[in-house]
Amino acid sequence: MGEPLKLTPMSDLHFGAPTAWRPRLRADVDLLVVAGDVYEGDIVRSIAWTAEVADGRPSVFVPGNHEFWGRALEAELDRGREAAASLGVSMLDGQGWVEVGGVDFVGGTLWTDLSLNVVADRPIFGRQLGEPVDVRGAGIDRRAKPGDAVRWHRRIAGAIETALAEAPRGRPRVVVTHHAPTALSLLERYRRDPSAAFAASALDRLLAGGADVWIHGHVHHSVDLVVGGTRLVCNPFGYDGANPDFTEDLVLELPDPPQDAPVASVP
Ligand SMILES: [Fe+2]
Ligand SMILES: [Fe+2]
Repeated sequence: MGEPLKLTPMSDLHFGAPTAWRPRLRADVDLLVVAGDVYEGDIVRSIAWTAEVADGRPSVFVPGNHEFWGRALEAELDRGREAAASLGVSMLDGQGWVEVGGVDFVGGTLWTDLSLNVVADRPIFGRQLGEPVDVRGAGIDRRAKPGDAVRWHRRIAGAIETALAEAPRGRPRVVVTHHAPTALSLLERYRRDPSAAFAASALDRLLAGGADVWIHGHVHHSVDLVVGGTRLVCNPFGYDGANPDFTEDLVLELPDPPQDAPVASVP
């Protein structure tokens, strides 16, 4: 049994102008996870910032909704994939388990299914999503609609569900999303409010799916709960550092996987 792997999570830096500020990680941290909303409309700058904070450590990045603002979603994901590959950052976008620094990661932006606390016959959404994100494709160039977000959500939630159903591969398992997977991540006064539909979805069953940790962003208060056997963590900086509980050197120790766990062969 070696030392447990140590991971620092953070999100929601919401930098306006380019900044030279870098959080200082603890020297003994093995991995960095950035769960989105770093620079608005600039996924490449967000990934470059992640690589600089990681300072040579393995790192994982999930884009937030703000990375896509003023952009077309698919084109921005392409730019992100390219930047991540060239800077050595692992960007998650629903591609199944990705091994990074001895840990298995799965995730993506997640979005929401826009259904939490919404009464079916009293929709609170108009024809537009309210997120300035564009959809472009063959013959298509328009603003995102609620149905687009639901489609994006189902793709990432489905990828997480499929991955969790696989046999563990003898490494800790960590899910990373930008949006929250449960209303329990919201402040109590919003948990039953229809506005919760923009922030979280009722994926509580996936928190009982055998992941060790689920890191998310999007809410701007700190979260550290155990739900369904999974440690649920959010460490957001907030606009101008508005979250007083943000911890730049927060460390999560990942449990050693059981030594007798079958190790699935990876094709
Ligand atoms: Fe945010
Ligand atoms: Fe967000």
